[in-house]
Amino acid sequence: MATNGSVPTVTIRIQRFNPDADKKPYLQAFQVKAPPGKTILDALHEIKEEQDGSLTFRRSCRHAICGSCAMNVNGRHMLVCDAPLREHVDRHGVLTLRPLAYLPIIKDLVVDRTSFWEQYQRVKPWLIPPENIPEKEFRMSAEEVAALRDAEHCIMCGACYSSCQVIALTKQYIGPHALLKAFLRVLDPRDSAPAERLADLDRGDGVYRCHTIFNCIDACPKGLNPTEAIETLRKLVIKRGAFEAARAERQRRLDQPIEVVGEAPALSGGE
Ligand code: FES
Repeated sequence: MATNGSVPTVTIRIQRFNPDADKKPYLQAFQVKAPPGKTILDALHEIKEEQDGSLTFRRSCRHAICGSCAMNVNGRHMLVCDAPLREHVDRHGVLTLRPLAYLPIIKDLVVDRTSFWEQYQRVKPWLIPPENIPEKEFRMSAEEVAALRDAEHCIMCGACYSSCQVIALTKQYIGPHALLKAFLRVLDPRDSAPAERLADLDRGDGVYRCHTIFNCIDACPKGLNPTEAIETLRKLVIKRGAFEAARAERQRRLDQPIEVVGEAPALSGGE
């Protein structure tokens, strides 16, 4: 890294593409200072404000929550608002930024996520409640909550999608992002249609299209495990009828009065 006083200067090579002016994408280099704590997103803002106002990228929360700033950094997909600049330059002080892979480029680092969201919609990511809602609350065990926690933390940034080698080969695949959401609904004890969901995932573009390459695990900025969720769905696809019958029986029992055995435990140890 070149140094300017005590603060090093690094080179960021950014893939540019303006469909109104360019025939194909190209790399453009910018120099920025890299003090400790500066993120790649901070550097993009600095370049846009001070060097080239036409640079186009997405961001919103700046706190690794909204997922909009996911892009390709030196070949790996990540959230640039959560990526320290200094940690991602090579030994020559150079870093290369490209948009998310396998999605059409709208401009510079912004991609068209239409197919990504269509696959998400395809798995019906909303809850389908039973016809007879229990009079009291739906009850879930601690184990069920723990199993669903992963899928609930997904922020739909697209890092797993653009790291998936199956997506690279074919668009005939639902994708790890949508399958993780399908897992969330199939395993949710409040949902009444797990067999229908699993039958949909049993098609040619569903769970069996995954080649278990694990790229989605490496890419996920939240440390989630879409591959494990897909493996669980594969097992449930085979026994989906019995799985849904067990779910319905559980709901029927939830409507029964709770059987109290022995004395209820005291809530506090005081007198
Ligand atoms: S800006 Fe929201 S996740 Fe990076």
